[in-house]
Amino acid sequence: MNLMQAVRYDAYGGGPAGLKHVEVAVPSPKANEVLIKLEAVSINPIDWKIQKGLLRPLFLPRTFPHIPCTDVAGEIVEIGTQVKDFKVGDQVLAKLTHQYGGGFAEFAVASESLTAARPSEVSAAEAAALPIAGLTARDALTQIAGVKLDGTGQLKNILVTAASGGVGHYAVQLAKLGNTHVTATCGARNIDFVKGLGADEVLDYRTPEGAALKSPSGRKYDAVINCTTGISWSTFDPNLTEKAVVVDLTPNASSLWTAAMKKITFSKKQLVPFFVNVQREGLEYLLQLVKDGKLKSVIDSKFPLSKAEDAWAKSIDGHATGKIIVEP
Ligand SMILES: NC(=O)c1ccc[n+]([C@@H]2O[C@H](COP(=O)([O-])OP(=O)(O)OC[C@H]3O[C@@H](n4cnc5c(N)ncnc54)[C@H](OP(=O)(O)O)[C@@H]3O)[C@@H](O)[C@H]2O)c1
Repeated sequence: MNLMQAVRYDAYGGGPAGLKHVEVAVPSPKANEVLIKLEAVSINPIDWKIQKGLLRPLFLPRTFPHIPCTDVAGEIVEIGTQVKDFKVGDQVLAKLTHQYGGGFAEFAVASESLTAARPSEVSAAEAAALPIAGLTARDALTQIAGVKLDGTGQLKNILVTAASGGVGHYAVQLAKLGNTHVTATCGARNIDFVKGLGADEVLDYRTPEGAALKSPSGRKYDAVINCTTGISWSTFDPNLTEKAVVVDLTPNASSLWTAAMKKITFSKKQLVPFFVNVQREGLEYLLQLVKDGKLKSVIDSKFPLSKAEDAWAKSIDGHATGKIIVEP
């Protein structure tokens, strides 16, 4: 039996201290799966929210012990009997499932249908950063906010909150591929960074104007990609155009209630809960944009697998600029 290093947890809770370094069997690919030797893995907040037990009502994770993280890049070392689109030696990006995870390890199995070829121009870390964060940004903008990323749509004013984070930094860049004016919020230290991503105006969220989400140019927003938590509807409301939509990426009981009330009272301004659904098409779309130089993955920091708990703690801390990467 081939063994590999992995980092996993045995129960809900525990944070970084709940992660254990173990030696386990290298998984075997099923007929429609590929076995990937991992080079880079990115962390998303959902990974540690699952450890906290916040997704227990959705039966996540399926089993303990659980090896967390789903957004991975590496090289295929074995393929299942029915795999058609890939061969051993291919460099790929893949999205694993939240049910079974598998990213914090030297090897992982991925479904062929959630695997995409990685162009040589895109590094493993730049690729691994993309799946959940990049596709949340893209799909919130296109499916809910109605932005056309080929630039053909009508001009829209977009607000991106927490624009320095994983989702936010992609949302600013992708919104600017469309016909948009982008206002963004972030901390003071990241204002120049977020302007560099293409934001037209940037608010420091710790100032009164920033906390009130007031556009410096007096614009009202047609859509908000809300990448943070704790902003109430009454703060959004005065800043919105008549038919605006606020995309809620972190729904909770209170925001779901507000969203339902907006809907049943036929409010023109809507709050829409959104959960990303990663598909291979999306992975290929974002990889192509990065290859073409139209989108960049900003890496906050890189940690070896031996320091995975430090990467985990940094993500939980919530102050990353761009994406946190672990390199097995
Ligand atoms: N629904 C979905 O499908 C989906 C998918 C992906 C993510 N999400 C959720 O979306 C949220 C964002 O995810 P993420 O990966 O982008 O997180 P992240 O990378 O951890 O976000 C960190 C960034 O947020 C900034 N920030 C924190 N509070 C802020 C505030 N009040 N105003 C402005 N900026 C603020 C921080 O800046 P400072 O360091 O300056 O504080 C930091 O740069 C998470 O709650 C995540 O669970 C949902």
